[in-house]
Amino acid sequence: MASSAETVPGPKLRVAAIGDLHVQETDSAPYRELFTEISGTADVLVLCGDLTNFGKTGEAEILAEDIRACTVPVLGVLGNHDYECGQPEKVCEILSQAGMTVLDEQAVEIRGVGFAGVKGFLGGFGRGELAPFGEPIVKAFVDEVMSEARKLENQLRTLRTDRSVAVLHYSPIADTLEGEPEPIFQYLGSQRLCDPIDRFDHVKAVVHGHAHHGTYEGRTPRGTPVFNVAQFVLRPRFGKPYVVLEI
Ligand SMILES: [Fe+2]
Ligand SMILES: [Fe+2]
Repeated sequence: MASSAETVPGPKLRVAAIGDLHVQETDSAPYRELFTEISGTADVLVLCGDLTNFGKTGEAEILAEDIRACTVPVLGVLGNHDYECGQPEKVCEILSQAGMTVLDEQAVEIRGVGFAGVKGFLGGFGRGELAPFGEPIVKAFVDEVMSEARKLENQLRTLRTDRSVAVLHYSPIADTLEGEPEPIFQYLGSQRLCDPIDRFDHVKAVVHGHAHHGTYEGRTPRGTPVFNVAQFVLRPRFGKPYVVLEI
C-alpha cells in the first residue's frame, strides 16, 4: 500500500507514518505488534503527535516500551493531548530515553532524507484565520503558531538534503480537514504552518495528525503533498493504522 509522494532520483526511503496513538494507562503493549510489523516494512517510523491520551508519564512509559521493540529509527512530534497534564517535557524525556527523536528545535537526516518537525498550533485558514490584532491575549495566541512556524522554518533551512519530510500534529492546510465540521477547522490547524513548507524545494511530503475525521490527502498552495496520517483516517482507507510513503 505504498504511495509515492513525488518522483525523485535515487533510492527511496520507506517512511511509515501514524498519528494519534492516544496510549492510555490501561493499555498493555498497544503498539508492540504494529511496530514490529513496521520494522519489517519500513526504514523509519514517524509518529505525528497525540502519542498519549492525557500526557501522563504512565502512558508515555507504556508507549516507550513499544518504541523499544522497534528496530528502525523512530521520530516524531508531540500533540496537544501530550500537553494535557502540563508536563510535555517529561513525556518527551521518557520517549527520548526509549530511542525516539522528538522533533521540535532540530532537524535530523536519515539516509539522505531530512526530517523537520514541530507540533504546530491552531489559528485557521483563509478568511477564518485569526489575526494578531487587539487584546494582548489574541496577539499571544497568534504568536504561538508563528513561533511554531518559525521553528519549522529554521529546521528546514538547516537541511542540506534534496528530499525532506515536514512532520506536524496540526494541519497546515484545510483540505485534509474535510470531513470534520467546518466551524472547527480553525482549531485543527493553521495556514501559517504552510509558509515555511512552501519556501523550500526539498520538502517532498508533509505528514500530520489531529483531525481524526479528516481526509487523507491534500496539497499545499505550491503543490507539496500533505497526508493526514491520523490512524482513524488511515484505518478505514487502508485497513491499517499506518501508511508507508516512499520519499
Ligand atoms: Fe488525536
Ligand atoms: Fe490532537
